[in-house]
Amino acid sequence: MTRHFDFDTPVDRRGSGSYKWDSASQQDVIPLWVADMDFPTAPVIIDALRRRVDHGVFGYVKVSDDYYDALISWNRHRHGWTINRDMVIYTSGVVPAVSAIIKALTRPGDGVIVNTPAYNCFFSSIRNNRCTIVENLLIRVDSGDSFTYRIDLDSLEEACADPANKVMILCNPHNPTGRIWTRGELEEIAGICHRHGVMVISDEIHCELTLPGREYTPYATVDPDAVICCSPSKAFNIAGLQIANIVAPSEPVRAVIDRAINDNEVCDVNPFGVTALIAAYNHGAPWLDALRDYISGNYAMLLDFFATELPSLKVCSLESTYLAWVDITALGISSEKLEEHALETERVWVNAGSMYGSEGYIRINMACPRSRLLEGLRRLKRAVANIVR
Ligand SMILES: Cc1ncc(COP(=O)(O)O)c(C=O)c1O
Repeated sequence: MTRHFDFDTPVDRRGSGSYKWDSASQQDVIPLWVADMDFPTAPVIIDALRRRVDHGVFGYVKVSDDYYDALISWNRHRHGWTINRDMVIYTSGVVPAVSAIIKALTRPGDGVIVNTPAYNCFFSSIRNNRCTIVENLLIRVDSGDSFTYRIDLDSLEEACADPANKVMILCNPHNPTGRIWTRGELEEIAGICHRHGVMVISDEIHCELTLPGREYTPYATVDPDAVICCSPSKAFNIAGLQIANIVAPSEPVRAVIDRAINDNEVCDVNPFGVTALIAAYNHGAPWLDALRDYISGNYAMLLDFFATELPSLKVCSLESTYLAWVDITALGISSEKLEEHALETERVWVNAGSMYGSEGYIRINMACPRSRLLEGLRRLKRAVANIVR
């Protein structure tokens, strides 16, 4: 029997200390920006957290065997990826993980390759470690009313051949374009990086959010030397609980990462993150699958809305994530101007593509009740209609 989960009833997040909801100065904003979801997490996670709260003592954590068992079992059964316990380093988030791995694997001044557009914290993590951002621009591929992206393998090879460039950050699946890289693409990337001794950090935080019927390929299954970052935080909407894992099979690589995690003082996690991860990986699959169906419905609605109400704006073909990537070049204005204008005049908040290193796009977070998303899109349409060019 499939259980019914309610993603339609809006939860009022205002005043709950939500970055997404409480950052706007006006009260009536619909926030479709920061990548968290407006849905309560899975009931099994809430129950597990409740039991943990009832215990009443929240001292320092020793991560239990259950934690590793849950992580290993989930990845083996759900993704066909075998992890050994001794490969795992837990930490407080994927961004702290990526930053510490860059610190471990580079020296100041080294180049770190990213495929752009890219998640904005990749840029800050590279800069904060005094490294150089080396952009490998994704190639846009148009077909009909939609478009997608592929990795420019020739320019990747050129970037990797430069001895100054030591590391590449892969986002698998990719934020903000929603691409799930195919096994073939991942094998090409692995081949290029191996040829030139470039280490790959693969951020797989969006891997659970594939659209129904689509599967992702864990990068570790094509490149056993890579360092993988993963977390249940995006998929189960528990980012505020701050839990993530680094999987690094090579012992010497793991040792330098472990050193950096300690240097950065991100080696401790909190009891709620641990409890939530165990519940998510052991019991969260039915909820997650229902969520993926719901997001797929929101995406279908968004596509229909753009096709009928805003036909000059093209939507990138989505394979994973709950983030729609929309081409606004037809408007002849910058993405920042549209973000500001839509927020000011119509009280809908989307992210400017410039934040991800790509002008001419906006990113829309679709992870909210469908009625709220529809109202946000109506507001966006009004903002587009009344903007002064
Ligand atoms: C690709 C990617 N990595 C990492 C994060 C954030 O990870 P964390 O909150 O665990 O630091 C995000 C959040 O949107 C993301 O999109």
